[in-house]
Amino acid sequence: MRVAVVGATGAVGREILRVLERREFPVGELKLYASARSAGRSLNFRGEEVVVEVLPETPLPADVVLASAGASISKQYASLWARESVVIDNSSAFRYDPEVPLVVPEVNPEALRKHKNIIANPNCTTAILVMALFPLHRAFRARRVIVSTYQSASGAGASGMEELLEGTRRFLEGHPVEHKVFAHPLPFNVIPHIDAFQENGYTREEMKVLWETQKIIGDPTLRVSCTAVRVPTLRVHAEAVTVEFERPVSPEAAREVLRQAPGVDLVDDPAQKRYPLPITATGKFNVEVGRIRKSLVFDNGLDFFVAGDQLLKGAALNAVQIAELLASVPR
Ligand code: A2P
Repeated sequence: MRVAVVGATGAVGREILRVLERREFPVGELKLYASARSAGRSLNFRGEEVVVEVLPETPLPADVVLASAGASISKQYASLWARESVVIDNSSAFRYDPEVPLVVPEVNPEALRKHKNIIANPNCTTAILVMALFPLHRAFRARRVIVSTYQSASGAGASGMEELLEGTRRFLEGHPVEHKVFAHPLPFNVIPHIDAFQENGYTREEMKVLWETQKIIGDPTLRVSCTAVRVPTLRVHAEAVTVEFERPVSPEAAREVLRQAPGVDLVDDPAQKRYPLPITATGKFNVEVGRIRKSLVFDNGLDFFVAGDQLLKGAALNAVQIAELLASVPR
């Protein structure tokens, strides 16, 4: 397949290259695009250097375009690319368009049956949440979900990681910490502010978790409330989740469901200090789920903790999995 990666030099773009390698995706030709800032750079793919090109204002010579250069680039170019290619878009540009499937392959692969050459990849926090929530929803029918997130710096791209590293260095050297990407200095801090505040007091990041969870799971009656918090980790989003179910549920029954769930690693042995952690989830395709316990608030309720590498399952891996599905199903 001819593959184009738009935003190849970014935090997600670079992961896409590693995921294409790790999953032995049948890449025939590979084109890499970024902004004029990256002109002349090259990136390694399967042991060879591939030159990064400046994104042209034309359709791209590719069967699949994996786009992660932000919503404004996708809004501007995706319909042009879609004339020649299937576009798998990592941005939020098309996620709420009823004609665009929003897909997590373990949850709603059937949504790929009908599309107009643009497929949306979900917000990273949502993708990680639904990996644990969907199998439990199928078994016990979730009604209300309350999520608090612990989101890493790389959710804000490569510049977010740089700002955290540089700020930490400056903090340790006793200098004032500057910030541009984040609303406040991130080192040794947590920031309950990701994306823009909405009229209802929630941030857009928090609203995305509601909108996208309902669309992916296919249940507009599912109630979801999120508090999204940036923490000073480099990668992996962790989430504390409380779910109220329609049917009776026990931690052991939930563990049994999650043991069978594709893409999930049950890491739940607190006595051995085993639970989901950013450190153990980094670089992993599967999402870790643990700390499963009966809710003290809801009768048919569970509390649990999730950690998933958001550059992978929340972005690059999910996009490549969608491409694999498309390649396997003739249209
Ligand atoms: P560049 O590295 O040349 O700026 P991240 O999410 O990590 O910030 O990465 C964003 C990606 O999107 C980078 O690869 C970046 O390229 C790319 N990008 C940003 N603006 C443009 C643009 N106007 N045209 C093409 N690619 C862009």
